[in-house]
Amino acid sequence: MPQGPSLRGKIGIVTGGGGGIGRGIALEFASAGVHLVLADVNGQRARRVAREMEKLGVSSIAVATDVSKVQHVDRLVRVTMERFGRIDILVNNAGILLVRRLSETSVDEWDEVMDVNLKGCFLCSRAVAKEMMKQRSGRIINISSLAAIRAVPETSAYSAAKAGVSILSQVLAVELAPFGINVNSIMPGTIDTPMVAGRLTPDTPKVIPLGRIGKPADVAKAVRFLASEDSSFVTGTTLVVDGGWGSLLHTPLPGQDSEK
Ligand code: NAI
Repeated sequence: MPQGPSLRGKIGIVTGGGGGIGRGIALEFASAGVHLVLADVNGQRARRVAREMEKLGVSSIAVATDVSKVQHVDRLVRVTMERFGRIDILVNNAGILLVRRLSETSVDEWDEVMDVNLKGCFLCSRAVAKEMMKQRSGRIINISSLAAIRAVPETSAYSAAKAGVSILSQVLAVELAPFGINVNSIMPGTIDTPMVAGRLTPDTPKVIPLGRIGKPADVAKAVRFLASEDSSFVTGTTLVVDGGWGSLLHTPLPGQDSEK
């Protein structure tokens, strides 16, 4: 099949790039020849992934970054510009999950989830967009969640933050379109990563129409599409990557009985 123009030589920042889906995205980008900046609050894990990517033949640096802190984010962009001189792709992937009834959620917990999942996306998008606007090109891809559009009990803070990420993506898409910058989001369903590892059961695949839990690579392939020229006319939209889970009329949660 003929391929669109390649991503080879592009510069991409992946937040939360030290593990899980972020590492999957890094692997996919490295295989496409994208040079990488791995930004993660856990600098050691980011460095490990950066070394792994270098072995795959791309340049890669790790920048210890808490995406919820404006000074960290400004430093991330400064270091990236000093090292690579431009930013073609930003993937806002860093996130934390809080599983807690609303009645038991403290204000500090609520703030932390909002700070990392929503404010982090705002701060990184704002800082990177300034560079992309000068370049008059760029791709911003935000990792939201199916929880942004389907009510998952005990995830009020997380789901509200992710719904915020989704509408933020749409508003940004409209604001940045005149600068040649495309902004889209991805809503993963259940993906096998450390974030949800303790919550998966042998029955989990049975509630997913395609019959399996997602892999980081499933999300990464969607990210690659949204970063590529093949999606040049796609902006302000959401790609759901969930094995059909969210399309069910009655969506059983992992662990609930299913008819399969
Ligand atoms: P994970 O917990 O395996 O990885 C998240 C990464 O983000 C970690 O490396 C962590 O150190 C980093 N991180 C956490 N707080 C940070 C901060 N303040 N600044 C910078 N980095 C930070 O989680 P996973 O599953 O890979 O999640 C990635 C994204 O995908 C998250 O935004 C998550 O909400 C989203 N997602 C995951 C789903 C799943 O089933 N695993 C489903 C839907 C969405």
